[in-house]
Amino acid sequence: MPNTPSLFSRRDILGGLVLGTATLTTTRLNAQNSALPKPPEKTDAARLAQDEAFWHEVAGYYDRADGIVNLEHGYWGKMAKPVQDHYLAATEMVNKQLSFYARKGYGSDAREAVARVARSLGVDSDEIVLTRNATESIHNLIRQYQSIGPDDALLYADVDYPSFQQTMQWLADSSNAQAIVLNLPARASQSHLLEAYTRAFDANPALKLILLTHVSNQHGLVLPVAQIAEQARQRGIDVICDNAQSWGLLDYKITDLKVDWAGFNLHKWIGSPVGVGALYMRRGSLDKIQPYPGEADPDDTRISTRVHTATSNFAAILTVPSALDFHESIGGNNKEARLKYLRRLWTTEADSMEHIEVLGGADEASWTGMASFRLRGQNSAAQVNALQKRLEQDFGIFTVARYELDSGACIRVTPQVFTSSDEIAQLTDALKRLKV
Ligand SMILES: Cc1ncc(COP(=O)(O)O)c(C=O)c1O
Repeated sequence: MPNTPSLFSRRDILGGLVLGTATLTTTRLNAQNSALPKPPEKTDAARLAQDEAFWHEVAGYYDRADGIVNLEHGYWGKMAKPVQDHYLAATEMVNKQLSFYARKGYGSDAREAVARVARSLGVDSDEIVLTRNATESIHNLIRQYQSIGPDDALLYADVDYPSFQQTMQWLADSSNAQAIVLNLPARASQSHLLEAYTRAFDANPALKLILLTHVSNQHGLVLPVAQIAEQARQRGIDVICDNAQSWGLLDYKITDLKVDWAGFNLHKWIGSPVGVGALYMRRGSLDKIQPYPGEADPDDTRISTRVHTATSNFAAILTVPSALDFHESIGGNNKEARLKYLRRLWTTEADSMEHIEVLGGADEASWTGMASFRLRGQNSAAQVNALQKRLEQDFGIFTVARYELDSGACIRVTPQVFTSSDEIAQLTDALKRLKV
C-alpha cells in the first residue's frame, strides 16, 4: 500500500489529540475553554471596568514586553497566549501538510471561520468574505463602486483614514465627479457630528456616495453612523463604512449601524494574527459594487466575487474562531467599558490642565478607549514629533503622532486590555510635567 498521508492529521495540531470528525477549529476551542478568562458572574461592565484584580488576571493571558509603557495599541492588536498557541500549532500543521491540507481540508475550515465572523457581527455567512485587512475591504468597495458619474459628487472627511481619503479622491477624479471634503471640529459630540453631515448633504444635492469612519484612527472619535446613514438613505446617498478600528474597541453588531457595506479588521481589537480582515455587504446590496476585475456574478449574489485574495495566510484564518472565543470570553461590552475607563482616567485630568488640549469626543457616546492630545497651540508636525520623542525618552511612554486632522497634528494614546491603571497614572504624571 502506498504511504498516503492522512487528511485529518490537521486535527492533531494540539499534539496527540484524538479528534474524531470535528473540525480543527471547534475541537481546538473545546480544548481551550478551560483556559479562557471568566468575568465574575454578578457584576456589570461599568463596575468590572474598575476591578484591577480581574484585569490583572486578563493581562496574565498576554506575553508582554518589559521596558517601555506602550500606549500605542491602535496599530494592531496582540494575540492572547491561547490564541498565539493555536496560531503556532496551525502554522506547523499547514507547513507539514501543505497543499494536501489546503486543497482538501482548508475549504471547510475557512467556511467555519467566515461563519464565526458572521455570527459575531450578527449577520449571515453569505454577507461576509474574509480579506487580508480592512484596507483590502474598503479599497475594493471604493474602486468597484459603479454608480457615480460626471454630474455626481462624493464626500469624505478629515477624520477618515488617509489612504481611504486618497482612494475616494481617485474615484472622484477618475469619474469626473466632484469631491467634497468635510472638516470636523477637533472635539465634537454626536449631535454636532450628525448636524455637520446633514448640513453637508443638504448643501450638496449631487452627492451619491460618502465614506464614514465608525472610529477615527486619528483620535478615536465615534461617528453616529446609524443616524448619518439614515439621513443619507433618505437622500439616496450610498455609504461605505470603515470599521477597521471599531470592531472589538466598541461592542456592537453591524446591523446596529444600518449600513450596506463595511470593512473590518480582526487583527486589531479582535486579537487575531496579523493578516485577517473582513468585508460585509448586506444581502441584496451587491449590484452597485462591481465584481473584482475579471470575476463574474450575473445575479449579484456572490460576495466572494468582490475580492480576489488568492493564496493567504491559512494559519491566520484557522485561528479566527480561537481569537473570537478569547474576545467573547472577556465580553465585548466589558472590554469596551474597561478601555473607556482607562481613557477617562487620563482625559479627565488632562481636561483640567491648561497647557493640554484633548481631542476626540465632546460627549461620552463620541469617545472610545483611544483619544489624542497636544500641547495647547502646538499643532505642527514638528512640534508633535518633538512631544512624542519627549514622552518616550524622558518619561518612558510610547505613543504615536497623527497628522491628518484639519485642526493639526496630535499624539494618539491607545491603551489595551492588559494596560494597568498605574501605567495610565504614569501618563497623567507626565502630562502634568510637560507644563515646564
Ligand atoms: C480607521 C482605520 N481605517 C483603516 C485602517 C487600515 O487598517 P489595515 O492597515 O489593517 O488595513 C486603520 C488602521 O489603523 C484604521 O485605524
